[in-house]
Amino acid sequence: MIPKPEKRIAEFENRGFGMFIHWGLYSSLAQGEWTLNIHKIPEAQYRKCFEQFSAKDFDAKQIVKLAKQAGMKYITLTTRHHDGFSLYDTRGLSEYDVMHCPCQRDLVKEFVEACREEDILPMLYHTTLDWVHPDFDANFDRYLEYLRQSVEILCTHYGKIGGLWFDGNWSKRDADWKLDELYGMIHRLQPDAMIINNTGLSEQGKTGHPEIDSVTFEQGQATVMNREGMSKYVTAEMCQTMNRHWGIAERDIDYKSPRQMIERLCHARKVGANYLLNIGLTAQGGVMKMTEALLEMIGIWCDMAKESLYEGKPCELVCSNEKDFVLKKGKDYFVYVHDLPMLGPKDVVAAYESTDENHTISGFQGKVKSIHWLDNEEELLFHQDQDVLSYRAVGFLYGSQYIVRIAKIEMQ
Ligand code: GLC
Repeated sequence: MIPKPEKRIAEFENRGFGMFIHWGLYSSLAQGEWTLNIHKIPEAQYRKCFEQFSAKDFDAKQIVKLAKQAGMKYITLTTRHHDGFSLYDTRGLSEYDVMHCPCQRDLVKEFVEACREEDILPMLYHTTLDWVHPDFDANFDRYLEYLRQSVEILCTHYGKIGGLWFDGNWSKRDADWKLDELYGMIHRLQPDAMIINNTGLSEQGKTGHPEIDSVTFEQGQATVMNREGMSKYVTAEMCQTMNRHWGIAERDIDYKSPRQMIERLCHARKVGANYLLNIGLTAQGGVMKMTEALLEMIGIWCDMAKESLYEGKPCELVCSNEKDFVLKKGKDYFVYVHDLPMLGPKDVVAAYESTDENHTISGFQGKVKSIHWLDNEEELLFHQDQDVLSYRAVGFLYGSQYIVRIAKIEMQ
């Protein structure tokens, strides 16, 4: 028996594509979010970042709009990262927060409100490990109480939130993190909140505590979840950076191309997982031009794909090309076709390539009525022989290249 997803999990899955935001004091140094730890930044120097943190360039509304235009339907913000600094008002719990530096604004409040206005689900990342809190190593039980109270603040002062995204339990694998208490509190205060706890690079896709609603594939490729016999339906999420760092790193120019990101997004949807794509904000909360430009490109594709990208579900149909796949929505099917050429007169347009246009999909029940491309409405030639559908996948006409082309298959 395969369990049915609870409402919050089904809704999260239908949001499909999200924006991860890494931002904190480390952004001022612009060399990754681990800089304090890896580069052993002297305390006094890191303190300066705190003393100069103004968030003057942070415009939550603008970021939410950017995410929306890129086709993203939720945003996961680092409310506190491993350096221990909080982007929210900790209400007396700690002096190491936005209210005690020049910023003096509760950035989580701004974020959640901006999300709500645009029907974007706000997800709150929260570290569980802490490099600077003395209790983390000296008095772990007391530290856990501090962590619990921190999370309690997030669950009580910001209205309805989408969920919590924890990260850091991998730092003390054998410790008792008192998760029953933490997760129990979250579901008491926020019954509809998703609970995710990143299992890290080495344990991708691993399920853990029964309250966990989604497994994580950090920087990885999600695989199909085998839910047979599970006590509840757990979904999956693949998170990924645009270059090699989560926090801004000015000297990291190793960016993925729109093709790589779109293909990753497609892979996620193929296996029913969400794709969480990261951006690192600048020192005071601005968005880099590069980030903006890449998101704009991805948005062009998502706009073309939107009819099936979010609510389309993986199905049993098998495509002749290995990368291709079919999503089912209602009674219609959508085939995602990869690696099509761009067509143009031979020898005139350098990009002219020709490939085999004959594709098949097997496993069909029922009769196909018509097939058309979503990008230009053009009908595809097809032929159905019992459960095997053959169709001609022509390339992009000169003037467009959508990377992954989608055709809608309507049934009789
Ligand atoms: C890792 C890193 C962290 C990053 C996270 C995002 O666990 O420790 O810096 O925030 O992955 O998935």
